[in-house]
Amino acid sequence: MPNRHNPYMTDRYAVVGNPIGHSKSPEIHAAFALETGQEISYEKILAPLDAFITTVDAFVGGGACGINVTLPFKVEAYQYATYRTPRSVAAGAANTLRFEHTTSGLQITADNTDGVGLVRDICINLGHAITNRRVLVLGAGGAARGVVGALLDEQPASISISNRTVDRAHDLVNQFKLVNSRVRMEVVEARQLAANQYDVIINATAASLNQSLPPVPASVFAKAGLAYDMMYGKVDTPFLMLAADAGAVTADGLGMLVEQAAEAFFYWRGVRPTTAPVISAMRKEALQLNRDQAV
Ligand code: ATR
Repeated sequence: MPNRHNPYMTDRYAVVGNPIGHSKSPEIHAAFALETGQEISYEKILAPLDAFITTVDAFVGGGACGINVTLPFKVEAYQYATYRTPRSVAAGAANTLRFEHTTSGLQITADNTDGVGLVRDICINLGHAITNRRVLVLGAGGAARGVVGALLDEQPASISISNRTVDRAHDLVNQFKLVNSRVRMEVVEARQLAANQYDVIINATAASLNQSLPPVPASVFAKAGLAYDMMYGKVDTPFLMLAADAGAVTADGLGMLVEQAAEAFFYWRGVRPTTAPVISAMRKEALQLNRDQAV
């Protein structure tokens, strides 16, 4: 398919972040493009911490059609857009931008596909229901804000938010109560967690980044159907290890990573790629890498 801005160029996309070396997005989108027969290019762009906008402007000037945005630029990307999808407004951040040259100038639309990526991974790939279930979200930062809207859309029985800094949990709950007042939302302090039961427990804290454990008692997992860490890395996080030891079904964020990418691809190209082969290929690759490093 010719470039939307220049028929002699391939449609260009990229992931922009800092750091960016570790990003799996180019290989995920290359697999989607191959599978769907879409002719696109997808690259990694390292933006200096103080130059996200100029970096993106330069890419747009080079004929870009869209970007994925990763840490630490998701809020800046959201603010940079000229239009915003409702789910990006709820998140207050964008992981996807789409660029369109219209008669009235360049239109930059912000979207956020993280929440839908998480929900699809939990409900479709892992086969755990959210509707009518009790959901616990650990964390109240950007990652949590990015997914709570999509969780609410599934009409769970309740969403409880627990965060190290309790005030931030209250802010998050108050914000989303304005969006959806039908689902019960509450703040639960860490010391009260053991007294409650949840069907799905999601770690949306940044604790796993440095292999630490958010404040959560092991007993909370005993009757959980699913413990999900939005982080994805080479080794299991302390959160997942604790959950597995306590008898919960566990999942890391690899499926979410692929699903949020698929939703972005769909948003840009209007074609939905099949995700299962990409998830299993990446899982195999990660296992192989671990084995190679072990010998
Ligand atoms: P992100 O965009 O990744 O969510 P953030 O907005 O800085 O980043 O939020 C990080 C989240 O992880 C917060 O909920 C933070 O808790 P606080 O609000 O109390 O800071 C949580 N977090 C980070 N490190 C943590 C740790 N070691 N234990 C528990 N929670 C942690």
